[in-house]
Amino acid sequence: MQKTRTVLVTGGCGFIGANFVRLLRAKRPEWRLINLDKLTYAGNLNNLTGIAEGPEYRFVRADIGDAAAIEELFAAEPIDTVVHFAAESHVDRSITGPAAFIATNINGTFTLLEAARKSWSGAGRQDGDSRFLHISTDEVYGSLGAEGYFRETTAYDPRSPYSASKAASDHLVNAYFHTYGLPTLITNCSNNYGPYQFPEKLIPLIIHNALHGRSLPVYGDGRNIRDWLYVGDHCEAVLEVLERGVPGRSYNIGGNNEKMNIEVVTLVCDILDRRLGLPATGMTRRSLITFVKDRLGHDRRYAIDATRIREELGWQPQVGFEQGIEMTVDWYLANQEWVAAVVDGSYQEYYRTMYGGN
Ligand code: NAD
Ligand code: DAU
Repeated sequence: MQKTRTVLVTGGCGFIGANFVRLLRAKRPEWRLINLDKLTYAGNLNNLTGIAEGPEYRFVRADIGDAAAIEELFAAEPIDTVVHFAAESHVDRSITGPAAFIATNINGTFTLLEAARKSWSGAGRQDGDSRFLHISTDEVYGSLGAEGYFRETTAYDPRSPYSASKAASDHLVNAYFHTYGLPTLITNCSNNYGPYQFPEKLIPLIIHNALHGRSLPVYGDGRNIRDWLYVGDHCEAVLEVLERGVPGRSYNIGGNNEKMNIEVVTLVCDILDRRLGLPATGMTRRSLITFVKDRLGHDRRYAIDATRIREELGWQPQVGFEQGIEMTVDWYLANQEWVAAVVDGSYQEYYRTMYGGN
C-alpha cells in the first residue's frame, strides 16, 4: 500500500514547483501538501489556480531562510517529506545580483536541512521513511565541449553565481546525509520548458516577444547547447525519486535532447507562423532573430547521461521535443492573461536593463 505522506513543497508557486504541486494533487490526492513560498517576482499564486485550500492542501507564505518560521512550521505539522524547489533560478540575474542567490540557495537550503534534522531526530517523528529531496541542476557540473555527458560521478565545476550556489547547496545536502544520516536525495536536471515558465527564460521569452513583433535576442553565436526536457516529464521523475530513490544518492534527469539555442528559437518561430500565419509585415518570425552580446561565462554545452534513473527507477521522458514545444506554444497562446499579469512593471524594468530598447 502507498505510504500517506505530509509533504512540504518549497517553491510550489514557481514554474516547476507549481507543475509538481498539480501532479501530486492529481496522482497522490491522499497526501497532505504544504506549499511554502516567498512569492518573489518568480512566484505566482495564479500558477495554482484551481488548487483549493483544504485538509489536503495549504499555502504558507514564508522565506526558506527564516529559521523561526521554518522551525515553527515543522513543530506545527507532522512533516515527513520535503521536496525543495525554492531557489533563485535565473543565471542572468545571478550575474547582475548574486547576493539573493547566496541567501536563498545556500542559506535557505541550510535552514531547511537544520529544521528537518532537528524535527526528524526528535521523538515520534523518525519513522524510517522520511525523505528530503533537493531539486538541483545539471549546471553544477560546468560546461561540456563537443563530446561527453554529465554523469552522477562527474566532478562539480560550477561557473556562474547561480550554479555555484546550487553546487554549494548540493554539498550541504550530502553533508547532512553523511554526518547526520538525514535521508536526503538530490536530482540534477537539465533545462525544463512548458506551462507557467516565467518569460525571462529562453523559450517563453521568445514566444512572448515573437507574439508582439519584438526582436528575439540570441546570445553570442546561438550555438550553445542545452538538453531540453518537458516539465511534466521532470515532475514524474521527481515523484519516482521521491518514492523509490535510494537515500544518499543523486539522480541525473535529462531529455536526451540536445539542441542549439538557434534551433530552438527557429522552431518556436516556425510553429507560430504555422499557428497564426505571417505577421502584418509579411515577414516570417525568424526575421525577428537578433544576435546580441553573449552572457558572461556562458556555458557552452550541457548534456545529461540519465542511465541511473532509467535503469534503477525505469523513468524516461515521454514527451518528444517538437510535441512539447507545440504544447508549450499552445499553452502560452491560450493563457495570454497569465502572461500579461507577469510582464508587469518590474519585468519591464528587468527587460530594459538586460536587453535595452530591443
Ligand atoms: P522559479 O524561479 O520559476 O521558481 C522559484 C520559486 O521559489 C518561486 O515561486 C519563488 O517565489 C520561490 N522562492 C524564491 N526564493 C524563495 C525563498 N527565499 N523562500 C521561499 N520561496 C522562494 O524556478 P524553477 O525554474 O521552477 O526552478 C525550481 C527549482 O528547480 C530550482 O531549485 C532550480 O534550481 C531547479 N531547476 C530548474 C531547472 C529549469 O530549467 N528551470 C532545471 C533544473 C533544476
Ligand atoms: O540546465 C538547467 C538550468 O536551465 C536551470 O538550472 C536554470 O534554473 C534554468 O534557468 C536554465 O538555465 P539556462 O541559463 O540554461 O536557461 P535560459 O533559459 O536562461 O537560457 C537557455 C539558453 O538560451 C542559454 O544558453 C542562454 C540562451 N539565451 C537565454 C535568454 C534568456 C539566449 O540566447 N537569449 C536569451 O534572451
